[in-house]
Amino acid sequence: LTQSTEGLDKAVLKNADGTTAEVYLHGGHVTSWVSGSKKEELLFVSEKAIFKPPKAIRGGIPVCFPQFSDFGPLGQHGFARNQLWAVDTLEESLDGATLTLLLRSGQEELQKWPHKFELRMRVQIATNGNLVVQPSVKNIGIEDFTFTFALHTYFAVSDISNVEVTGVQGLEYLESLVTPRRKEKEERSAVDFKGEVDRIYLNTPDELRIVDRGNRTITLKKTGLPDAIVWNPWIEKAKATADLGDEEYHQFVCVEAAVVGDPVTLQPGQTWTAQQVLSVS
Ligand code: BG6
Repeated sequence: LTQSTEGLDKAVLKNADGTTAEVYLHGGHVTSWVSGSKKEELLFVSEKAIFKPPKAIRGGIPVCFPQFSDFGPLGQHGFARNQLWAVDTLEESLDGATLTLLLRSGQEELQKWPHKFELRMRVQIATNGNLVVQPSVKNIGIEDFTFTFALHTYFAVSDISNVEVTGVQGLEYLESLVTPRRKEKEERSAVDFKGEVDRIYLNTPDELRIVDRGNRTITLKKTGLPDAIVWNPWIEKAKATADLGDEEYHQFVCVEAAVVGDPVTLQPGQTWTAQQVLSVS
C-alpha cells in the first residue's frame, strides 16, 4: 500500500514481467493496468478526475453497486464507488500479488440502502499479464435483497474513431439515449462511434472485443455478468461533465460488464460471484 499524490491510499500490484495495476481503496477502484508487449496503460483516467471522496474517480473501473444507472431509487450507479473500502486480504506469491478489497454495510451504507452486505473486489494480475477482477456480494442480513451491478470499465483508445466493439450482432439492447429507454435489436456485427452511444446490450456473449484499429485489441471475458453497456459521451455530454475534459471523449470507450436486465436476488447467507478477465493483443 502507498499513498497517491492526492493523499489517498492505493495498492500497486506487479508481476514478474512488468505488468502493473493500481487499485484505490476509495471506491474499490482499479485506476491503472499497464500490460501487453509494449507495457502500455490500457485504462483511461481523466486529466480532470477528482480524487476527493466521496466523488467517484472518472476513469478506470468504477464499481456500480447496488444499482446500475437509474435502475432503482438510489443515486446514479449506487454508492460503492463513493465509499472508502478496506483491505480484506493480500495474497503474495511468486507470480505476483492478489488484493481483495471489502466494502461492508456500515451505518452510512445502511442509511442509503437498508440491507446488510459484504461486497468484495478481488484484483489480480495473472502470469500472462491479464487483469482478473472478481467481484462478489454476500448477504449477511436476515432478509433477501436484490441488486444490479456493473464494472464500469473505461478503456484507453488511440482515438474513438478507430474503435469498434464486437460481439453484439443480433442482440437486444436498451437504447438509453431516449426516455424511457427503448428496446431495439442490433443488426450490425460491431458498434462504432460517430456520436453519443449509450446502450445496454442484454445477454451478450461472454467474450467481447474492443478493437482499436491499427493499435490493439482488448478481449473482455466475463462470467456472471450477462449484460454489457457500451458508452461514449461524445461532444456535448463531455462538455457537460465537469470532471471530464472537453476533448477527452476521443480517448476512451466504456464497455461495462453488468447484470442489469435480470437483477440478482440473494437469500440470507448467499453469495453472488462474477469475473471479468481483460487481455490485450
Ligand atoms: C454509463 C451510463 O454507464 O455511465 C451513462 O450508461 C452515464 O448514461 C455514464 O452517462 C456515466 O455516468 P456517471 O454517473 O459516472 O457520470
